[in-house]
Amino acid sequence: MDLLQAINNRRSVRNYSDQPVSQEMIKALLQAAVQAPSASNSQPWAFGVIQDSVLLKQYSDRAKKYLLSIIDQQPPLAKYREMLTNDKFNIFYNANTLLVIYAKPEGLHPQGDCCLAAQNLMLAAHAQGLGTCWIGFARTLLDLPELKKELGVPAEYTVEAPIIVGYPQGRIPQLSKDDPEVIFRR
Ligand SMILES: Cc1cc2nc3c(=O)[nH]c(=O)nc-3n(C[C@H](O)[C@H](O)[C@H](O)COP(=O)(O)O)c2cc1C
Repeated sequence: MDLLQAINNRRSVRNYSDQPVSQEMIKALLQAAVQAPSASNSQPWAFGVIQDSVLLKQYSDRAKKYLLSIIDQQPPLAKYREMLTNDKFNIFYNANTLLVIYAKPEGLHPQGDCCLAAQNLMLAAHAQGLGTCWIGFARTLLDLPELKKELGVPAEYTVEAPIIVGYPQGRIPQLSKDDPEVIFRR
């Protein structure tokens, strides 16, 4: 797939088939992620892989509960109240794979660097026929000290990008994007 075609056609996927994502594929996606640029080539990232749907369902339930407990202090979350109270809603959309990109406290720009790695990963997945969706809803839960302990993540690493991966099922809703806002030309 041509790179511009991949950039223009990638969309977040929220409906997945049961087809598992192979270890080789995951390896290839992580290899694409680490090709991203990073400040001073610090490569301040580390990755977590979860392919346990029972665990993902548990994390989804815990994340929803946690988000509802802070919703009154977080006005941008208010519009998701109904979704978060719906027992059937799984924040991971029943995908069987979650990749988590953690930022290490190294270099000059760790969070931005990890976002670049995330975009590489999502585009590489799209080029291989896989769908992805960044799941911001999972971030606060995965960043809790007890969750990091549970998963063996060093306390000083921070969750940057939780990304579900899987084979898309059904039609992928298309979106149009705004034209770039150019604020100066000299
Ligand atoms: C930081 C961030 C957090 C996001 N969190 C969620 C999320 O929790 N759930 C979800 O369904 N989509 C989430 N998304 C996906 C966005 O909704 C999506 O990228 C946006 O609507 C544009 O659609 P597109 O990815 O198809 O271009 C997130 C995206 C980003 C970059």
